[in-house]
Order: sequence, then C-alpha cells, then structure tokens
Amino acid sequence: MSFSTIINNGKGGTESHPLRYWLFSWDSKSISHAESFPLLCPSSNSQVGANDIVFACFKLERIDNTALYQLVLKKERGLIEELPVGSQIDGGNGLGKDSLTARFEAYNFLDFDEQCVTDLLIYIQECCRIYGNILRLSTRRGFIQCWANVMRPGQGMSKHQHMDTSDSFLSGIITVCTRPTKTILFHHQDETLAAEFPTNEGYLLLFPAYLPHGVTKLPEGENERVTIAFDLFVESKARSFHKRPLKELEY
Ligand SMILES: [Fe+2]
Repeated sequence: MSFSTIINNGKGGTESHPLRYWLFSWDSKSISHAESFPLLCPSSNSQVGANDIVFACFKLERIDNTALYQLVLKKERGLIEELPVGSQIDGGNGLGKDSLTARFEAYNFLDFDEQCVTDLLIYIQECCRIYGNILRLSTRRGFIQCWANVMRPGQGMSKHQHMDTSDSFLSGIITVCTRPTKTILFHHQDETLAAEFPTNEGYLLLFPAYLPHGVTKLPEGENERVTIAFDLFVESKARSFHKRPLKELEY
C-alpha cells in the first residue's frame, strides 16, 4: 500500500497534550502496518481511552472509484445550478459559494441510485461498524449526511471543522482519485498538527467530527481532485439537523 501517514505525538502525546492518537489501517479488513506504527496500532485487546483520538483508514476494495469520480463530475454542474447555497456556504473551507461543496446541506450523495453509490453506502456502514467496535460504542443507529467536493488546480481547503459539539461524532472522507494533495488534521485544543493523510485513490478516512482539518493546494496542471465526505450523527441529536437530508444508518 502506498499509504503513508505522518502522525505527530506518536509516542503518546506532548507535555501539553498527553493524548494518544490511534491509527487503525485496514487492507481487506485486517489490521496492517502494525510494524510501521507500533505505538499507534495497539493489539486488539487494547483499550482506547476516552481522550484518545482515533483515526481509521480503510482501503475500499469493492468500490468502483472511477465510476464515483465520473458521477461526481457529471452531477456537479446540475447540482450547483439546481440547489441552494446552504447557511454554512462551503462550511468554512474556502471553496466559495459557486462550489459544489456549498450545496452540501441541500442533498445527500448517498441518495443517488447508481450502483457505485449503493456499494459505497454498504461499505461506509461496514467501516463505521468497525470504528464503533474500536470505541466500544453502545449505540449503533445513526444518521448520515454525505456530499461531494471538487477541487481544481490552485484550490485548497482552508482549515475548518464539521462539528464542535456532540451532534455529530464522526466524519469521513473518501478519496476516489490520487492527487498530490494532503488532508491535514489539527488538534482540536490548540490546533497543532495532528496528522496528514495523502489523497490516494480508494481510501476512507474516519476521524472525530470535532477535529479541524484542511487540504493542501492542488498544483496547476492536475485533473480535478474529487472526494466524498460525510458526517455521522447520533440518533438523539439528528432531530436538531432535521433540515439536512439525513439517511438512516445501522452500523
Ligand atoms: Fe471537511
């Protein structure tokens, strides 16, 4: 796997942040890279602490990334023209009101009926289930909202945050193409660097929804960078987001 990840504080946090970052990485659903990240990939019986930050990275092997990439680009113009810009505009990532991202509150990408989307939903569900197992979550019913992002050369995403409350506990990013950009995640307390994940085709990254994150600029001469992102809401909090097109998810 060409996946390479930089995690700061891999030895158990800094003095100011005595937190641990856990990285779980799967190929074919088995923990891999335990040797590369011995301090970050605990054995299966390790306890994840309440203050730990858990990233999980999955290789989406049964997903048609090319189909997803093409679908997003095919739908992009029509969605921008048809849908209103949401109250949060681009969610603070700087892509602006003319971007597809600025419609993220107005539709749910998982409502499209193409086979690649149906397959994606099933796989997201499986990955969230594994994440729930890691955290030993007792609640396994929630609501998901999903949208697509298109970045063009010269564009990046400013640091932004999906949720700063417990309304949504989990966010995900699916990279359906490989581009020379990185998703950078920051510590939520003082916004120091927490982790960087390269944009490699076919990976799903799950991370706590409260972590600020951004994306480095896409260099000139590159094709579009397409990602699909989502927030997962716990059932009891979903009602406060009733205007969003949420989809129920058992995980
Ligand atoms: Fe984001």
